[in-house]
Amino acid sequence: MVARNRFVRFRARILEKILRRLGIRSVTNAIDRYWIDLADAERRRAATGIEDIFYANTGRVVHKWIDYLPVYERFFAPLRGSNVHMLEIGVFKGGSLEMWRKYFGPEATIFGIDIDPACADLADPPNQVRIGSQDDPAFLSGVVSEMGRLDVVLDDGSHFADHQLASFRALWPLLEDGGLYIIEDMHTAYWPSHGGGLRTKGTAAWMAKTLLDDMNAWFHDGPEQLAPKDEIGAVCAFESMIVIEKRKKEPPGHIQIGAGV
Ligand SMILES: C[S@@+](CC[C@H](N)C(=O)[O-])C[C@H]1O[C@@H](n2cnc3c(N)ncnc32)[C@H](O)[C@@H]1O
Repeated sequence: MVARNRFVRFRARILEKILRRLGIRSVTNAIDRYWIDLADAERRRAATGIEDIFYANTGRVVHKWIDYLPVYERFFAPLRGSNVHMLEIGVFKGGSLEMWRKYFGPEATIFGIDIDPACADLADPPNQVRIGSQDDPAFLSGVVSEMGRLDVVLDDGSHFADHQLASFRALWPLLEDGGLYIIEDMHTAYWPSHGGGLRTKGTAAWMAKTLLDDMNAWFHDGPEQLAPKDEIGAVCAFESMIVIEKRKKEPPGHIQIGAGV
């Protein structure tokens, strides 16, 4: 392929020379500038959507429910190429941290945490792994201090209700304005084996409803239970996944505009 590209470039240069001798200005120089080789093309292909990256993975294993992929794309696309600071809870075989690196690019800060010490060896710098439990607030705040900032939390850890709640309570106050807090596999909220059950208090499903109530606390008398009303931008529920957006807000306001009666 490289040889073929070289030949095409050579042919373009000859054609350019002939046209110049004939006094004809051509556009081949402008086009020439945009020749790329296969490696560059591959690099750019890798910088497409999350689904391309996920399905093309031949590196460390990554384990995701496939319906999460378009949700990632929806929320993460504006963060690509930025210096987003992401923390993934649950490293497993290390493939998801690699996937985030490919997706977000070299400017991103990507940390994973896991309770399994074997995961410490499953990240290539600049990705980082720290070992500890997601229900340990001191450990979590130490990791965030090391990161320097927190823009995205992806909880794909134990999937136990009390762990998900403990992580949220510890990390939400540390999340930047505009940040995203994501809980995956929240179908475990319905499983007694994980501290869940339909409409059981303290699960991720309960967290989603409670955050919805907290966000709307302008309109009821109950106290906020998980987060202040003026910093919840959105509570988005998907199958098995919730995405909570942190956004500093003014009190609600409404107005009527128009010339009609
Ligand atoms: C579902 S796997 C993570 C999958 C990985 N994020 C991926 O996408 O390929 C769950 C991981 O959470 C870890 N884990 C279990 N309990 C934990 C805890 N209390 N704190 C942190 N990690 C935990 C497990 O060791 C396991 O590696």
